[in-house]
Amino acid sequence: MQGLRPQLLEGIPENVYDKIRQLEDSFVIGTPGLKKVTNHIVEELKKGLGVDGGDIPMNVTWVMGYPTGEERGQYLTLDMGGTYLRVCDVVLAGRNESVQLDQSKYKIPENLQNAQADELWDYVAECLRLFLLDRHPSEEEPIKMPLAFTFSYPVTQNSIRDGILQQWTKSLNVPEVVGKDVVTQLQAALDRKKVQADIVALVNDTTGTLIASAYHDPEIKIGSIISTGCNAAYMEEYGAIEKIEECSLPNDALIAINTEYGAFDNKRHVLPRTTYDENLDKLSPHPGCQIYEKMVAGLYLGELLRLIFLELHFQGALFADQDISILKQPNVIDTSFLTIAEADVSESLRELRQLCLEKLALEPHPCDLKVCRYLVELIGTRAARLYACGIAAICKKRGFERCHVGVDGAVFNHYPAFGKRASQALREVLDWPSGSEDLVTFHEAEDGSGIGAALIAALAVKRGGCGRLKPRAQKSN
Ligand code: BGC
Repeated sequence: MQGLRPQLLEGIPENVYDKIRQLEDSFVIGTPGLKKVTNHIVEELKKGLGVDGGDIPMNVTWVMGYPTGEERGQYLTLDMGGTYLRVCDVVLAGRNESVQLDQSKYKIPENLQNAQADELWDYVAECLRLFLLDRHPSEEEPIKMPLAFTFSYPVTQNSIRDGILQQWTKSLNVPEVVGKDVVTQLQAALDRKKVQADIVALVNDTTGTLIASAYHDPEIKIGSIISTGCNAAYMEEYGAIEKIEECSLPNDALIAINTEYGAFDNKRHVLPRTTYDENLDKLSPHPGCQIYEKMVAGLYLGELLRLIFLELHFQGALFADQDISILKQPNVIDTSFLTIAEADVSESLRELRQLCLEKLALEPHPCDLKVCRYLVELIGTRAARLYACGIAAICKKRGFERCHVGVDGAVFNHYPAFGKRASQALREVLDWPSGSEDLVTFHEAEDGSGIGAALIAALAVKRGGCGRLKPRAQKSN
């Protein structure tokens, strides 16, 4: 059994024990399973670089190469990727000087998650207006500032200054934006509100993470986010990106690819999904999409746990005679439940009991607590091991035998066991000799949507535009 501790289940009734064993059979993924998933991801990464594409979008970001350390200037950055908007004013003064960063966060109201496009963009523009008003209240005719827009959703880019939204992921769902250029829409809103900002770069959070982390650590080859969503970016050689139209670049010129591998296995052929994964997908804001992401990312782990809790309850194996009305509410459990539960190593599982009481109004029996704690570990372990497959696949695709991976996001930062479990899975998938050091290591990333986005803006301003994508071939039926 991978990373699970059967002693956690000591003393629980036999019928409950049997049910947990069945769950284990579908949730535990051994080394061969991980290798199979990884090899399929490698194939899809390759397909995604071709004109016809595959499950994984492999979006060309037009971020050309790593920063030199000479990037300078003042940039605004705006990060839109989850529940908050983050606006920063970043001053870069070269690698040997420290970066100055001034920031504010604004919560995206829930009603905007399904709003009209103009309502969404007007809100975003208003936050930027308030930020600038607060920082520069007296300037009559302020100079237009270059703005890097970190938009953490899949887009098709023909340059670094545009991006057509392929589809929404996570919780946002504003249909009018799909198929449209998000830069044009946001810039129009900024102009309507007379916000003195000019979008010079559209950035994905993973690309920002890659660039920010590589700025100080040349061993960084992959930037990854494991938070509400899950994704990674890396540098690919121009010569391997078949879908870029001929442009005058040497074959080994590096271009950052935002893999968007959260979409891996949307055809549902490879991943060992359980009935809980299937139900979670059906109940999610974007059914049928982001199938891999839904097995690993923070937006979904709590919900998966809730679905299992409910089923065990209805089978009489958990929270017997308890009022489960709160547990019936979708998304009532978030990832913090898992992190707190796993951190509870007390014999009586005191913290977990408190958590059940506060969040779910449940007063669990000691055996229930053991089962909950065990299930949390089962889900968290599967997530970390599958997460490692994406990273291992990029390493295999690019032939990186040794490298650093810059990782950001709440799941990595607040779930202490996650990194350790993912490293163990890398060891198994990449066949490192037992007892040897880790060759691919995870590192807490530098600030991707602030510093990384500003660096990308500086690179974009310096280099100007380049290249186009080949039109996708028509599929003959
Ligand atoms: C998005 C990616 C993003 C990731 C992490 C996914 O849902 O599609 O663009 O990088 O979440 O934020």
